[in-house]
Amino acid sequence: VWFMENLALPMRGNSIKRLAVGMVNCDPKDVVLVPNATSGVQAATQSMLRRGLGADDVVLCLDVCYGACYNGLLQLCRVTGARMVAIPTANSVGDDDAKIADRYSADVIAGRVEAALARWGSHVKYCVFEHISSFPAVVMPIARMVQAARRHGALVCVDGAHAIGNVHIDLRALDPDFYVSNLHKWLCAAKSVAFMYVRRGLQVEVEGTCVSHGHGQGLQAEFAWQATADYTQSMTAGLAVQVFRALGMERVRRYTHSLAREAAAALVQKWGTRLVVPERMSECAMATIWLPDCLNDPSLALSASLLHRHLQIVHKIEVPCASLDGGRLALRISAAIYNVKADYERLGDVIAALARLATQDRARLRAQLNQ
Ligand SMILES: Cc1ncc(COP(=O)(O)O)c(C=O)c1O
Repeated sequence: VWFMENLALPMRGNSIKRLAVGMVNCDPKDVVLVPNATSGVQAATQSMLRRGLGADDVVLCLDVCYGACYNGLLQLCRVTGARMVAIPTANSVGDDDAKIADRYSADVIAGRVEAALARWGSHVKYCVFEHISSFPAVVMPIARMVQAARRHGALVCVDGAHAIGNVHIDLRALDPDFYVSNLHKWLCAAKSVAFMYVRRGLQVEVEGTCVSHGHGQGLQAEFAWQATADYTQSMTAGLAVQVFRALGMERVRRYTHSLAREAAAALVQKWGTRLVVPERMSECAMATIWLPDCLNDPSLALSASLLHRHLQIVHKIEVPCASLDGGRLALRISAAIYNVKADYERLGDVIAALARLATQDRARLRAQLNQ
């Protein structure tokens, strides 16, 4: 108890102040710390239970909605009877890469969100939109999406799991209803810590994912002491904010964005492939790239999980791999402040060697992948 009262609570409060004032431009009273983006988005989603959602209502998300948050929406719909609508962003089975890339545009995505809001009208009560989607990595036209939802009277939770430290966040300008971002991703805080912003008028409706001593006493009390746990990550998150501010956020972003962009261009050239998402929609420290065609040959039946495991275990390369658009494999590279060009050159060589085996010696390729 001494530790919780005298160290954990004041240090968590200090992390909130540094973050709110120093990095996301909002009042610290509107921000709480949660263990991860999933629990922050879920707390926002669960608050909709207290808004009398019913069978006549609609909740919206994008088709690229992160699986865990999507499940939270499904659960909300199961309990309330509300209808779940996933807005298609850009994927469409069968189109060629150039057509797919063209559809990743701010106008197309914002237009599809507008169209869904117009189609379902005042039935739409709640939306969860990613600031940057996980796979493929797309920087969404989030300000336009938030404004569109507001015009139609729907609440919006922005899932910015990948945003802080990666792209600029200004919550006064964006003015969402809820905003959640992981500090343990691009800000290099220890796992597990994320922040959740809640618009002032909605705070009484948000309950902690673990109902504890502060229950019913306002947002700060609700989340301050979520039972006995390891709070060291959130206690030290303020230090992560301080370190990044000292490095200079713009300088950090200049480095990570250009490293991702240049690495992606080099990989595309080496593998003879294309970016899944064009540069204009991926202005962040991530890029998603199609694998060479020979590794996507259906007769090879190479799965995302097998390739991911091979890169991770055999080559010590951590890179998300997924099948998109009817089952073709793509990789998502990330450029953190500790990454250098050589990291991507190694990835480029490993994939190029696998691609050579796919055309010249499939038995050896299979043996390598299964080792
Ligand atoms: C868009 C998005 N939302 C939510 C999450 C979940 O983050 P966490 O596992 O920290 O809750 C992720 C993780 O990568 C993500 O990319």
